[in-house]
Amino acid sequence: MPDRRKFLKHSILSTAIILPFSGKAISLIKSNGASDAYKPLILSTWEHGMPANERAWEVLKESGNVVDAVEEGVKVTELDMDNLSVGLQGLPDREGIPTLDASIMMGDGSCGAVAFVRQVKHPISLARKVMEETPHVLLAGEGARQFAIAQGFPMEKEALSPKAEMMYQEWKKTATYKPIINIENHDTIGMIALGEDGKMAGSCTTSGLAYKMHGRVGDSPIIGAGLYVDDEVGAATATGLGESIIRINGSFLIVELMRQGRTPQEACEEAVRRLISKNKNISDIQAGFLAFNKEGAYGAYSVQPGFNFACHHQKGGNLLDAKSKF
Ligand code: GLY
Repeated sequence: MPDRRKFLKHSILSTAIILPFSGKAISLIKSNGASDAYKPLILSTWEHGMPANERAWEVLKESGNVVDAVEEGVKVTELDMDNLSVGLQGLPDREGIPTLDASIMMGDGSCGAVAFVRQVKHPISLARKVMEETPHVLLAGEGARQFAIAQGFPMEKEALSPKAEMMYQEWKKTATYKPIINIENHDTIGMIALGEDGKMAGSCTTSGLAYKMHGRVGDSPIIGAGLYVDDEVGAATATGLGESIIRINGSFLIVELMRQGRTPQEACEEAVRRLISKNKNISDIQAGFLAFNKEGAYGAYSVQPGFNFACHHQKGGNLLDAKSKF
């Protein structure tokens, strides 16, 4: 068994896993903070965003429906057995249980989310059901699981994937944390999409921080923190240490900065500056933001180097490196 007292001596903030990427840097953003603009446009966090965006692009092309696109897109990541940060195969909490968070939002203000949910393969689809079938925005824990059963979602076994089991057993030997550099080049998937007709939607899904306390919820299911979408302005999503993002309501902040006239790049940079000013031990924290505005210009920025994102538009799909503060 892990030594829980030892574990609790460590601040939860010291559990950040910093996830660098070693791809080639691509300069996207002009010095005035503007990017080229595209409509339709799909952005998602990290390299796992590439296959997710490809699926979302297919759905958008076939149906023109942005909310279907962002749901179907991140479902690809939720099923990826090699992924340790999204879906039931992700790294578990400190009790060895995978618990998932997800949210979905449309540009008209409709939104739904689930937090601390167990045994559901597609938390993003459950979040959509919360949006469409209930008068609520967020269901958590056992209530979310009961809602899933009532909606006909199959309950999955709670067995860890072989890779997650191996890593969890290794972690239990000490049950202590240090920021882990260079183990994975991904975290949460956040996806935002802009349709040809100007309609927007976003999705965000994660297994959360590895070896978190049982019951911990991150930024991903918190509307305004991990995801925010407003057809009048633009959309933003976040990845990285959820606590640091919740403290500044990061995605909502970015959309409001764009409403006041900042470019998506300037807004992401200001959110990172704000995050740094409101969080201690910043060298242990990675967080990154993605945003676009209603014209289809986009931006990305992170605290530490290593954040990359998938960007799909009519000229094709690319994995791009975001600039960072440090
Ligand atoms: N950004 C994911 C989490 O902190 O749970």
